[in-house]
Amino acid sequence: MGLFQYIETSVENEIGFITLNRPKQLNALNRTMVGEIVSAAEEFDRDTQVKVILLSGHGKAFSAGADIDEMANDNPVRLELLNQFADWDRLSLVKKPIIGAVKSFVFGGGFELALSCDLLIAAGDTLFSFPEVTLGVMPGAGGTQRLTKLVGKTKALEWILTAERINAETALKYGIINKIVAPELLMEEAIAFARKITAQPSLAVRMIKDSVNKAVDYSLYEGMQYERKNFYLLFASEDQKEGMAAFVEKRKPNFTGR
Ligand code: CAA
Repeated sequence: MGLFQYIETSVENEIGFITLNRPKQLNALNRTMVGEIVSAAEEFDRDTQVKVILLSGHGKAFSAGADIDEMANDNPVRLELLNQFADWDRLSLVKKPIIGAVKSFVFGGGFELALSCDLLIAAGDTLFSFPEVTLGVMPGAGGTQRLTKLVGKTKALEWILTAERINAETALKYGIINKIVAPELLMEEAIAFARKITAQPSLAVRMIKDSVNKAVDYSLYEGMQYERKNFYLLFASEDQKEGMAAFVEKRKPNFTGR
């Protein structure tokens, strides 16, 4: 794993941990930090010891958004040449499931990072918000697109236009998060959640994530064709043979990830 300045990484029990590590700035995301998050996720994606990636933040908050100091003097030409959001596109290409464990402020780019995860566990004190409008800008790392696809136009527009802070209960009600847990149990619960997925055959997990994500972009017909191909492909895996043999033989399967 590469050496990182703004994040920490580790691997334990088939979970690859990425922890945002700028707690004094409430894990505000500077460009280097986003690059590090994506590089670490890509490395874990290729690491056979890792089945699930767990993204969280050190300190009080998950992330208070993009680093305002860094972008205060930006201009469109510099932004176009930097092409910083290409890093966010790379994150969408990671094939293993990414679980976000979020708490306190999940604002702006921090909310966009959370929305880039596949599953979210939130502490009861979590507040989600897109405050960009109050800075004279708007979300730029997928917020207007991902939130709208997730909750529909009505609430997305309301929340992004007013910068309203959404609490964990509301986020759960609208399907933004999977589960609310006590703040002191956040990592414990997130790890327990991740272990439910590491226990599954990893090729099936991979194909399921791939197929479900296609439902966001594809028509129903295209998505059905795509799903079918992934379904067929799993019959080339040893885990399919093992899973079905174990069922017939009334024993526990021994999955190898092949
Ligand atoms: N960028 C840079 N620094 C930030 C930051 C950010 N997004 N958020 C917090 N910080 C820094 C603060 O400047 C402060 O630093 P100092 O101690 O050096 O003064 C430190 O983190 C602690 O923050 P606060 O003292 O403000 O903490 P608080 O508990 O009083 O308030 C908060 C917390 C309400 C989240 C407040 O920090 C805040 O409003 N932050 C900005 C949130 C925001 O507007 N985010 C959107 C950014 S734009 C974006 O994300 C664009 C995009 O789509 C890519």
